[in-house]
Amino acid sequence: MKPGFVWGAATSSYQIEGAVTEDGRGPSIWDTFSATPGKVDNGDTGEVAADHYHRYGDDVALMADLGLGAYRFSIAWPRVQPLGSGAVNQRGLDFYRRLVDSLLERGIEPWPTLYHWDLPQPLEDAGGWPERDTALRFADYAAAVHGALADRVTRWTTFNEPWCSAFLGYATGRHAPGRREPAAAVRAAHHLLLGHGLAVRALGDAEVGITLNLTDVSPRTRADADLDAARRIDGMQNRIFLDPLLRGSYPVDVIADLRGTTSFDHVRPADLDLISVPPAFLGVNYYSPMLVAGNASEKPSAYVGSPNVEHADGGRPRTSIGWEIDADGLLRLLLRLRRDYPAVPLYVTENGAAFDDEVHDTARIAYLADHLRACGEAIEAGVPLEGYFAWSLLDNFEWSFGYAQRFGLVHVDYATQRRTPKDSARWYSDVIRRNGVQGSLHRVHDHTGERS
Ligand code: FCB
Repeated sequence: MKPGFVWGAATSSYQIEGAVTEDGRGPSIWDTFSATPGKVDNGDTGEVAADHYHRYGDDVALMADLGLGAYRFSIAWPRVQPLGSGAVNQRGLDFYRRLVDSLLERGIEPWPTLYHWDLPQPLEDAGGWPERDTALRFADYAAAVHGALADRVTRWTTFNEPWCSAFLGYATGRHAPGRREPAAAVRAAHHLLLGHGLAVRALGDAEVGITLNLTDVSPRTRADADLDAARRIDGMQNRIFLDPLLRGSYPVDVIADLRGTTSFDHVRPADLDLISVPPAFLGVNYYSPMLVAGNASEKPSAYVGSPNVEHADGGRPRTSIGWEIDADGLLRLLLRLRRDYPAVPLYVTENGAAFDDEVHDTARIAYLADHLRACGEAIEAGVPLEGYFAWSLLDNFEWSFGYAQRFGLVHVDYATQRRTPKDSARWYSDVIRRNGVQGSLHRVHDHTGERS
């Protein structure tokens, strides 16, 4: 990769911190959701998680051992503002100052994300993201964190994957807060974007970006119904966020698809001016491509307004969480961003794989190597890709899948909290040291060979 390429690893607050009632932290929607029977596999919760709140010093030492240039983590809003608004909890801010200081001492750039899904419960009780006021509260919170860390942090990310917050949180109910209200989900998507725009304004001269979970969508066949399904899913997964942010408008076909759901009267004219202030960078999270098909029967779906679409099987190997592996999908996605949108510095802010491994994780190494080669090809083709963050530094609480799905470069034994770097951690450390993946440019095609 070119000099200055940022090599990092990522985590998020609720997935690793634990200590959910310590030092004045208030409850978040994920505390409530995971405590509700049936919502998370095995009844798992983030109560202890990887105990990072207490072990952050050791974890930063581990990052330094691996040679990470940057660490992407998220700040828990309910630690900073236990009620989601009003008084700031200094002890919550102090934790992040300590974390940031220890990163800086080791020469690791802190990459905080302000919101990775843990909304303070009182804000959900007042209506959550479907309410415009939540966006205003977010901007206040962002300003409070910025005030405490601006002397130490250069690059800020407002949101991680607003698609999940809006559509898994409020349409399918698979994520917190678990509501199934399609129109509310579309309003939530807008208010997340508005929160981004308001925070960009509140943070003044800071470099502020946003991370989206974008995907490469293709139709199963060239039949009209399949082509239409691909257009719709691209609209509701990618363009519903990319267009407001980078073009200043919602896509007309998406507005038309949603006509039966919402009239978009929650969007005020000046909102799009705020949302479309060019971000300092765009974070791209990529795991898997999407093959889609039209379907005659109507089914509830995360793709509000499009009940007649379904995911098709692309016939590729899958990771243990069931996601198909296709590194070329990342290449296609990056090329598409360059082709269809104004140039903006890009970072892959998450990419990685769940496997049922302990420490000898050959399959994860193959996955990461292939995706890093795709990044290299994208850069050669002129994509302004400036960095890559592996998901995840540590095994952690994988949302509705609980602890059963392990994405870490570092294994966590949850009974003892012992950390053991997997083979992939050693391998990634080597990649960082050489500033790129060594070896043949031919893709490794068999990813499923080893899972022990
Ligand atoms: C992404 C999330 C991240 C993690 C990975 C596997 O959608 O941003 O927290 O759960 O998936």
